[in-house]
Amino acid sequence: MSKLAQGHNKIERNVTLLAVFSFIAVAIGGIVEIAPLFWIDNTIEEVDGVRPYTPLELAGRNIYVREGCYNCHSQMIRPFRDEVERYGHYSLAAESMYDRPFQWGSKRTGPDLARVGGRYSDEWHVQHMIDPRAVVPESIMPPYAFLADRDLDHGDMSAHLRAMARLGVPYTEEAIEKANEDLATQADSMASPAELQKRYPKAQIRDFDGNPDRLTEMDALVAYLQMLGTLVDFEMGEPLEQPR
Ligand code: HEC
Repeated sequence: MSKLAQGHNKIERNVTLLAVFSFIAVAIGGIVEIAPLFWIDNTIEEVDGVRPYTPLELAGRNIYVREGCYNCHSQMIRPFRDEVERYGHYSLAAESMYDRPFQWGSKRTGPDLARVGGRYSDEWHVQHMIDPRAVVPESIMPPYAFLADRDLDHGDMSAHLRAMARLGVPYTEEAIEKANEDLATQADSMASPAELQKRYPKAQIRDFDGNPDRLTEMDALVAYLQMLGTLVDFEMGEPLEQPR
C-alpha cells in the first residue's frame, strides 16, 4: 500500500481525526466565500438612474404593501426569453436596492409589475383600480375604489425617510427635511418642480388621480405604479450582458 493510501486509511478509520480534517476543509471553503464580504462595501452592482423613492412614491408603495398587492403580483422579471418579451428587460438587482421591504413576490395571479410604469395612462390606472372589469372584462382582480375616496394620511414623511436612511437608503439631510413639502409638490401640477426633480431625477409631477382638489391614496398609488421600472434607461446601451 502506498504511503498516501496508508495515511488515508488512518484518517478514515479514526472518527475524531476525520471530523477534525473535515472541519478544516469546510472552514477553508467557508472563509473563501465569506471573508471578501467584509472588505467590499456593496454586493450590488450600482446602475445609473436608480435613486431612492420620492416621498409620494414611498407613500404609494406603503399602500401597495398594505393592500397586499404582492399576493397576486410579482416585481421581478426573470432573465428568460418569454418574460423579457412580455415584460421588458429582466430586473437588475440594483433596481430594488432601496426597497425596504422588497416586493419581488412569488405569486403571479396577475402580471409582473416591475416595469408597468408608463405602460398605461393615469386614467387607465384609476379606472382599473376603481373597477378592473371596466377596462379588462375578464379580470379577476378585486376593485380598490375606496383609494380614490380616502385622503392620503401619510404621517410625517421626514420621520419615514429618516427611518429608511437608517436602513441604508441614501436620503440626504435636505431630502429628509423637505419630505413633506416634496410629497405635496409632486401631486400638484401648479407647484414649481425644480427642487424636487433635482433631488429625485425623473420624478413625475402631476395630479395622478384626476381630482386636483384632493390628495388621495389613489394619487400616491398611481405615482408609485407609474415610476416602476422607469429609472434605468435601457435604450442607452445595456448595463449588463444579454440573458443567458
Ligand atoms: C386577487 C389577485 C389580485 C390582487 C390582490 C391584485 N391584483 Fe392587480 N391584477 C390581477 C390580475 C388577474 C390582473 C390582470 C387582469 C387585469 O388587468 O385586471 C391584474 C392587473 C393589474 C395591473 C395591470 C398590469 C398590466 O401589466 O396589465 C395593475 C397595474 C395592477 N393589477 C395593480 C394592482 C395593485 C396596485 C394591487 C393592490 C392594490 C393589485 N393589483 C391587487 C390580480 C390581482
